[in-house]
Amino acid sequence: MVLDVSSIREDFPIFRRYPDLVYLDNAATTHKPRVVIEAIRNFYENFNANIHRGLYDLSQKATEIYEDAHEVVAKFINAYSWEEVIFTRNSTESLNLLAYSIGLNYLQPGDEIVISIAEHHSNMLPWMRIAELRNASIRIVRVDENGEMDYRELENIVNEKTKVVSITHVSNVLGVINDVKKIASIAHRVGAIVVVDGAQSVPHIPIDVKALDIDFLVFSGHKMLGPMGIGVLWGRKDILMDMDPPFYGGDMVKSVDIAIRDSNIVKKNIVLNDLPWKFEPGTANVADAVGLVEAIRYLIRIDLNNIDLHEKELARYTIKRLEEYNEKITILGSKDIAKKSGIISFVLQGLDPQVLAYMLSTKNIAIRAGFHCAQPLHRYLGLNKGSDRISFYIYNDYSDIDRFVDAIDWILKELGI
Ligand SMILES: Cc1ncc(COP(=O)(O)O)c(C=O)c1O
Repeated sequence: MVLDVSSIREDFPIFRRYPDLVYLDNAATTHKPRVVIEAIRNFYENFNANIHRGLYDLSQKATEIYEDAHEVVAKFINAYSWEEVIFTRNSTESLNLLAYSIGLNYLQPGDEIVISIAEHHSNMLPWMRIAELRNASIRIVRVDENGEMDYRELENIVNEKTKVVSITHVSNVLGVINDVKKIASIAHRVGAIVVVDGAQSVPHIPIDVKALDIDFLVFSGHKMLGPMGIGVLWGRKDILMDMDPPFYGGDMVKSVDIAIRDSNIVKKNIVLNDLPWKFEPGTANVADAVGLVEAIRYLIRIDLNNIDLHEKELARYTIKRLEEYNEKITILGSKDIAKKSGIISFVLQGLDPQVLAYMLSTKNIAIRAGFHCAQPLHRYLGLNKGSDRISFYIYNDYSDIDRFVDAIDWILKELGI
């Protein structure tokens, strides 16, 4: 194995508490290493104060810590500047913030937004809502029988009315890695804004926003060893500077002047704050930003290239083992490891995905069943009850897969399938 899994597992208190747990639901959320948990506690015990508001030492220290967290994230994804990093609650909030900002600032009736059929609901519903509000329309690119994006169809769909192309980097169902650079070059030909949903890529493969030549990227801290409750919206400074934010309140303005006559506002002058603060209204989630920084440092120590290799190896091994049950188990999407990350969804013929996941849970094996927030994709694939999904991370090894496959074998025998 590329990674020393047994020493990595030592860093995760959850595995001390549940030594028998086979955790294969990392696409939903990941466990937290001790350093992340301790960093959050350390912040509250030693540095807790609201930022940007106090002249006292603690507030200034908390402000510094929070600003540094933007810098760490910026370097991690090779952003042009820390001012391009906006903290949100998660990928979902980042995509909503972006959809509303783009909708309010740029979308005109008749404009088009392009997404794919393989999007998570979080990269579908916000765009559908804003399209409805602005009389714009959504165009959908399909995936082929291997779950790979139909780039020819994308080229045909993208036209001078296209204002946004928002695509997932890695499908949370099929595990397929999309060619984001190619998508960006197709979209940029017509001047469309390129948004990448990195919820399933940033935790698993090295990301360089400059090299990918994209305009926006979103991801969630909790899927990359960080705490729940912090996510990132990265965007190009020139576009962010140009856009008004959708949410208003404290800390996102430099000054607010209003003139009142007869209880009416007769004049107003609101000067928005600099980046990134104009997109971060209200009290910031400093503790979780600190946790995210520790998670990023942990991932950098292990090296994203190694994580990618490790997960590919586990995916290769799983596919090989599941092929022993070829007539009974269908793996969704490509089996070509070079194009895949550590997500494998499958259906077991004649068995409701929920029943399979429940039976596995009786053996302490955690997997996901259902639509994985990608219902249109499942319907497109003709899977009206969804699928089962396993997904890996740095603390999984061959023994997890063997336990999973042995349990599948037991289920098949038990149910006489
Ligand atoms: C591809 C993709 N996009 C977006 C999301 C939403 O992430 P969150 O629930 O952290 O907002 C997920 C979560 O599973 C996902 O897999």
